Amino acid sequence: MTHNIAIDGPAGAGKSTIAKILAKELGYVYVDTGAMYRAIAVFYMDRCVAYDDEESVNSLIPEIDIRIEYKDGIQQVILNGENVTGRLRTEEVGKMASKTSAYPKVREKLVELQQNLARVTNVVMDGRDIGTKVLPDADLKIYLTASAKARAKRRYDELVQKGEKCDYDVILKDIEERDYQDMHRKESPLTKAADAVEIDSSDMSIEEVINTVKNLIKDEA
Ligand code: DC
Repeated sequence: MTHNIAIDGPAGAGKSTIAKILAKELGYVYVDTGAMYRAIAVFYMDRCVAYDDEESVNSLIPEIDIRIEYKDGIQQVILNGENVTGRLRTEEVGKMASKTSAYPKVREKLVELQQNLARVTNVVMDGRDIGTKVLPDADLKIYLTASAKARAKRRYDELVQKGEKCDYDVILKDIEERDYQDMHRKESPLTKAADAVEIDSSDMSIEEVINTVKNLIKDEA
């Protein structure tokens, strides 16, 4: 039996930061499911398939092969034999992933892969439907959220620090749009599982969130 922790929540709530630290401390594997949906988005973007062309999206599914590997403990996504990890974290790919992940056939393709990973190893897995759909029997489910304004501010600070030009209002609007899309789609929308513990990180440091989760793990034992 493996021990699995599911972390769901909206874009920018800090899921991956928290999941990575936790996985390292626990000696578990961190599984970033958003990266898998992003890799599928890259596949369609490379073929100039429009996000609303469901027929083409569905007909090309059999041509997609996604594999997960780990290099120095960091997840790599292999799309049809090519390591696309370095192409996944752009705003454009995130937006396309939010659109194409709404299609049931796209989700079907990835859910099984995610479940298989959790079956063979202890994981901290983050995404939108981990506690509700992928790992309904996860040992601990966290719903990590933060206000849209707090998430936009964090993103803004991150970009400014990198020396990139950005506009807070545009970032906030993008976040609100993505929330709406991820929460209102028909198939596996982002929602808190009934047995998930909600953590609002708006006014919390990373350390405070980690300590809260660690206490929940202790309580579980
Ligand atoms: O977490 P992220 O920003 O990398 O995810 C990109 C998009 O992928 C997100 O907007 C919705 C989708 N996604 C999903 O539908 N289900 C998941 N388990 C993870 C991500």
